[in-house]
Amino acid sequence: MRVPVGIVGAGPAGLLLSQLLALRGVESVVVEIRSRAYCEARQRAGVLEDGSVRLLRQADVATRLDQLGLEHGGIYLQFGGERHHIDFRELTGGRSVTVYAQTEVVKDLIRQRLAQGGVVEFEVTDTEIDHLDTDQPVLRYTRPDGTRCELACDAIAGCDGFHGISRQRIPAGLLSTTERGYPYAWLGILADVPPSTDELIYAHHQRGFALHSLRSPALSRLYLQVDPDESVGNWPDERIWDELAHRFELPGSGWTLRQGPILDKSITPMRSFVAAPMRYGRLFLAGDAAHIVPPTGAKGLNLAIADVAVLAPALDYLLRGKPELADAYSATCLDRVWRSTHFSWWMTTMLHRTPGADDLEAQLQLAQLRYVVSSRAAATSLAENYTGYPILDL
Ligand code: FAD
Ligand code: PHB
Repeated sequence: MRVPVGIVGAGPAGLLLSQLLALRGVESVVVEIRSRAYCEARQRAGVLEDGSVRLLRQADVATRLDQLGLEHGGIYLQFGGERHHIDFRELTGGRSVTVYAQTEVVKDLIRQRLAQGGVVEFEVTDTEIDHLDTDQPVLRYTRPDGTRCELACDAIAGCDGFHGISRQRIPAGLLSTTERGYPYAWLGILADVPPSTDELIYAHHQRGFALHSLRSPALSRLYLQVDPDESVGNWPDERIWDELAHRFELPGSGWTLRQGPILDKSITPMRSFVAAPMRYGRLFLAGDAAHIVPPTGAKGLNLAIADVAVLAPALDYLLRGKPELADAYSATCLDRVWRSTHFSWWMTTMLHRTPGADDLEAQLQLAQLRYVVSSRAAATSLAENYTGYPILDL
């Protein structure tokens, strides 16, 4: 079988690319190792930049986002027993972010692709990509019923996340990777309780970082910094709530943390990783397949969306004999990737406690936090980075 674009991975990057290509009249096939139910339930990111929201609207997948997304005009930074509001709208001339879970973005995209006759093959095995340095790369996979399929493509998009197969197919000498692991992880919970806050709270605490986020007016999402080798088994619900209440405590304010049943619990390691270039011949990497940021800046999902906003027109033109955008794809994306990598590293190292660190680390972090909340220039820099950089219009 022939298809113009083969897409490996039905995460936000692969699904949105398929949707953006369809809007341009370019057919694609998405192959995914997991089930549809698994992809739709995988708890991950929750914050969309302005540009991501606009792009999802242009891509015709924002009906539920517009109904259920919660627009947020700022965040709180908490440290040294004080909570300070950073007002994004005021600092950036009206920009904001939208809290809307990645699970919902994925559900919306899958529903729209299938409703419009798009092909998304779930639960495939033995995905292979080949002949990448020719004009006819090949995508092979096995369907759940055992049928082996081979697609002759004009281009392949590797949207298969950090652990996928696509990046490994770039010859070692042609790919440079830059990486740092962090000596901590996030224990994340989804709780059936209304949020205790109107905006996200990023809390610096001597026992480690904590984040209060949300999913809806009825569902809270919270995170605790834990050691990277921690297991969820060591964290019964009561211990999690006690630790969260302690790290968010604001003595004398009357503020309390509402508690409720925990619906989901998981631990995520933290890493900065960039692979370059994001292209090898007719293989194009997008999203986590090419780069990972620690989640403190809420950038991972937004970067995946920004990559495919650049990739869709690049592939469309490449298939019509105009390679300029495809040739510029990697450099165009890496600019934003490195800005986000820096911002995520900065937020992460400003807010987390390094195990075994001396007091200098905490004092420097507090000095930086006090600067951010007292200098308009510093607060504007945080606000500008958090709300994001413009994404190409379609
Ligand atoms: P993914 O969402 O990883 O999608 C890749 C898809 O490819 C998956 O569905 C996978 O099953 C599939 N796949 C893999 N291998 C193959 C194969 N061989 N063949 C076919 N399909 C394959 N970001 C934040 O901003 N905030 C957060 O709180 C946050 N939490 C996270 C928690 C976890 C556990 C992880 C892993 C990431 C988190 N992120 C977070 C990052 C954010 O969710 C990602 O940046 C985003 O999912 C990237 O989308 P993607 O489509 O590039 O990759
Ligand atoms: C989330 O809601 O999951 C979330 C929000 C902000 C972050 C990371 C994760 O920085």
